[in-house]
Amino acid sequence: MSEQQRASFGGKLSVILVAAGSAVGLGALWRFPYIAGMHGGAAFLLVFLLSVIVVGIPAMLAEFAVGRRTKKNAVGAFRSLSKRWSWLGYSGVLGALLISGYYYLIAGWSLEYFASSLSGGIFSSPHSFKEQFSMFQDSWRPLFYCFLFILMTHFIVSRGVEKGIEKASKIMMPALFVILIVMAVRVAFMPGAADGYRFFLSCDFAEAFKPETIMMAIGQAFFSLSVGMGCMVTYASYFKKDTNMVATSFNVSVLTLLVSVLAGLVIFPAVFSAGLQPAEGPSLVFVTLPEIFKGMPLAAVWSSIFFLLVILASLTSTISFHEVLTAYVAEEFNMTRKRAALVTTVISVLLSTVTFYKMFGVDFFNIFDYITANVLMPLGAMFTCIMVVWFMKRGFMSEEITNGGLCNKRFAGVVVFMLRFITPVLILYIFIRNFL
Ligand code: PHE
Repeated sequence: MSEQQRASFGGKLSVILVAAGSAVGLGALWRFPYIAGMHGGAAFLLVFLLSVIVVGIPAMLAEFAVGRRTKKNAVGAFRSLSKRWSWLGYSGVLGALLISGYYYLIAGWSLEYFASSLSGGIFSSPHSFKEQFSMFQDSWRPLFYCFLFILMTHFIVSRGVEKGIEKASKIMMPALFVILIVMAVRVAFMPGAADGYRFFLSCDFAEAFKPETIMMAIGQAFFSLSVGMGCMVTYASYFKKDTNMVATSFNVSVLTLLVSVLAGLVIFPAVFSAGLQPAEGPSLVFVTLPEIFKGMPLAAVWSSIFFLLVILASLTSTISFHEVLTAYVAEEFNMTRKRAALVTTVISVLLSTVTFYKMFGVDFFNIFDYITANVLMPLGAMFTCIMVVWFMKRGFMSEEITNGGLCNKRFAGVVVFMLRFITPVLILYIFIRNFL
């Protein structure tokens, strides 16, 4: 595709909303609260914040640079910068595949919970929420809703970059914020909420600086910022020449952190108020939250609103990794966008089915999640950082960051220094410490 024909995102706000749409998702709303719950609450938040600053933002900028400079899909982008590094593009595509193997399933849970909240069925059932959750898991419905979610994603992605992705993000992201803030305020008035704040905001430093916790925090930063698997490369290929990438990466990170903290402020008070355990694991959001809504007037309304929020946030993320694959298939195999989206969708359906049925007796769900967040994304990001500062033409990164000398001049030096000496070294160190 020539540069003239290639789509691009509209103004500044669109770029931020689209990138933040990819970032803010189940990572912030579902993964962050339960991982923080298992690793010491606010202590985890602190390490997470540091990880975002020291590794997340520089790595995101490296990806932006690769994408915008080349204006190609993940594989094409790395390849056209240097043939020797094209494997980084493939590792991104692999990451997007693995995420597709389980993310849609969880996103689908929120569809089920939204539907049963709307109907009120979830509150009138004689079974506890925990029982309902496991009955749901044992039925065919998770797969049905997963497919529905893939279809919704397909619909948006196949409409294209401007009419589909950009438009959807511009509507869904602001809606998400409003809903989340309303929820956080509502939860504050629940009995027992104070215990939740105490838990979430108390610091356990011994826990926070264990290598395993740091690894989880870095993994969470990559996962939550959608960095390390070609996603930001792909999105940045639709940026314009004058997009301020530093401001974008900064805004995206702040929004992601904000949503993660807000999610914690909604979920922990709610969990304690319902007398439940914060270290519940992946089912945290789905088992514990209905418990809270139950005691409230208009339970079905609050619950529907909350799960709608989860749906919106997930959808702006699923379209982003669907787009990684769609752009790759379309450009590398010379297909129309519609056909490439269809190929991606079929593969996603197959992968989710394999995961759902635990085919070959393997727990793909946790394996995919662990491999993407804790192996592929950190390593992908680390090598991207190394590539852009050590193996490109001198000044490649500063040229991109400053838009050819027009902005962010002071920042460029700091970012390049971090990319050279700090970010990759830190990732490698933690990676080795954790696995040895
Ligand atoms: N950042 C998304 C989330 O937090 C997940 C994601 C990861 C999306 C990688 C795209 C690429 O839900």
